[in-house]
Amino acid sequence: MRLTIRDLQAYKKRGEKLPMLTAYDYPFANLIERAGIPIILVGDSVGDNVLGYDNTVPVTVEDITHHLRAVVRGTETAHIVADMPFMSYQTNIADALRNAGTLLKSGAQSVKLEGGRRLVDTVKELVAAGIPVMGHIGLTPQSVNQFGGYRVQGRTQETAQKLIEDAVALEAAGVYALVLETVPEDLARTVTGKIQVPTIGIGAGIHCDGQVLVIHDVLGIQSGREMKHARKYADLAQVITEATNQYISDVQSGGFPSHEESFRAK
Ligand code: KIV
Repeated sequence: MRLTIRDLQAYKKRGEKLPMLTAYDYPFANLIERAGIPIILVGDSVGDNVLGYDNTVPVTVEDITHHLRAVVRGTETAHIVADMPFMSYQTNIADALRNAGTLLKSGAQSVKLEGGRRLVDTVKELVAAGIPVMGHIGLTPQSVNQFGGYRVQGRTQETAQKLIEDAVALEAAGVYALVLETVPEDLARTVTGKIQVPTIGIGAGIHCDGQVLVIHDVLGIQSGREMKHARKYADLAQVITEATNQYISDVQSGGFPSHEESFRAK
């Protein structure tokens, strides 16, 4: 049985922090669930972490569905959130319902979409159709072209006030949780205290009810992608490079395969 949105909301009620990570395939999803992660995001960050795009804008519903299915096959108990990619929900509510429906039919338990008050009607319709929605405000990467880069959001009194109003409006519309991305920690504290549903921070400081990071940043898979908000818990880029170098050297020196790694006729 997978964790439900009620189980996730209970973390905030108990005062327990909620740890969330992204995953995009079977083995990583399987490993992080076994390690105890209760909620996995199949993020549109698959675009710049796995598919080789510059950002998340080119990612399609088909891309998310493909990776989502693998993550679902790799897990049993984690709650799986699927990102709604750019232009899969902004055009009209009918598109949003159809695309979110596809993601739930592909195994997600909820969807996440980026944006504030403008999305209130969309969120209401999705929730009314039985589709749990996680909100995402602050730095919303699908709007990178509008922002002109990945900048801290809500730094002025006016933009901070707007962000608080967005959070309150999204909660009233029915989101079950809210991602706060790259905002000042004091602002994240204010939002977290103002709404009942859990806030999940990324680059938003310690006061959020939970934290989310991109798994590739946590594991150090792409070298040269160090970011202020992300902590690298392992250096898999180095591990992979060293293992590959060793393999090349063994093949070229005749050190692989050995007699024990070879087959013989009976
Ligand atoms: O796609 C993603 O990884 C995200 C997180 C940054 C929250 O949306």
